[in-house]
Amino acid sequence: MAETVEMDTPSSASPTTKMEEPMVAHKSSSSSSWTTMHVVAFILVGGLIGAGIASAIWGGIEAKSSSSGGSGPHQLTMAEYATLQAAVRMLEPPPSDPAAQTDFFGALVRLPFHDAATYTASTKQNGPNGCLNYADPANGGLPMVISMLDTVYLPHKDIVSRADFWVIAGNTAIEDAHGPVIPFMYGRQDCRAGSAPKPTGLFPNPESLWTDMFNIFVTRLGMTVQDVVALIGAHTVGRCHPQITGYEFPWDATGNRFDNGFYLNLLNAPWLRVLTVNNTNQWDFSPVPSANFMMLDSDMALRFDNAGQPGCQVYNDTACTPNNATIALVQSYAADQNLWFTDFTTAWNKLTSLGYSNLKPPAP
Ligand code: HEM
Repeated sequence: MAETVEMDTPSSASPTTKMEEPMVAHKSSSSSSWTTMHVVAFILVGGLIGAGIASAIWGGIEAKSSSSGGSGPHQLTMAEYATLQAAVRMLEPPPSDPAAQTDFFGALVRLPFHDAATYTASTKQNGPNGCLNYADPANGGLPMVISMLDTVYLPHKDIVSRADFWVIAGNTAIEDAHGPVIPFMYGRQDCRAGSAPKPTGLFPNPESLWTDMFNIFVTRLGMTVQDVVALIGAHTVGRCHPQITGYEFPWDATGNRFDNGFYLNLLNAPWLRVLTVNNTNQWDFSPVPSANFMMLDSDMALRFDNAGQPGCQVYNDTACTPNNATIALVQSYAADQNLWFTDFTTAWNKLTSLGYSNLKPPAP
């Protein structure tokens, strides 16, 4: 059975999300100033995962959303775009809760990446179409995010596709996390009901080398090396969830800010590669364990092209060899946040438009 998000007829527009009552009640009682939407967002993305009980609710959410989506002939307007951004913001935790914002922004930026990064340029297959294969372990955690977004997407499903809405959610998160305002283009087509699920195994392994990342981003997706370096700076928002991937911690101290902290930390922090209790390898701050920041091998690959290999387990190991294809870009983005914003915007628009040549800006 396909485990992707699928479309069905517009008449069946109710999400299949189910939540366990005690969790809803618990959060509601501590968030008196929040709307119901805030509560749902916090529970699904922040509260549950942060409290380490994501697995408890995981069983309470069905693996397939049966809601409708479509990208028919409707011509989106700027006013409608503003309405759709407002819908995303109904779910957004307030700035007074930076931990919840970290989870919320991170989830919303990661989702369109995972929808898009299935593309294969040589065959023009897959890519951003509002469908994820829930059977792919790389998509861990995202079914919850999709269910959450569906609560505000479904009322608007006749004016915008789900694939477009996920990009709007990502753009809104980036904007509200003090990142660039990214111009939006619409017209992505959702996958059809009953279509084959996207293949698994397309995502980069977090414990991979630069050569693997090059093969995925440049060779398969058709992006440039500059795009790759600019995109991975998105790890400045959000964090890793040990219950989901086995990795732990955010990449910098401000996981709710879309700033160039990822590049600054990548260059300046004293990293040490460690084996976690979950049997995953990641890079931690070596003399300051309480700092609780991390890097994946794939992040460190932008600095060293043999990061994680025997002989390159510590940031100042003489056996670590600089990645000459990427290190100058990392240094540029660490020195100039505006330059990164510009290059990120270009790369993000390219990523989220893979396979489309007919996207349009909303009409004035
Ligand atoms: C080599 C490429 C990449 C690898 C191996 C990778 C891997 C990961 C992993 C393992 C996590 C932790 C997930 C969790 O534990 O919940 C993560 C989170 C995240 N990734 Fe990536 N990623 C890559 C590229 C990207 C790109 C290109 C973007 C966006 C443009 C992105 C955006 C994010 C965000 C925002 C989060 C935080 C999610 C959250 O807070 O829930 N990643 N990534």
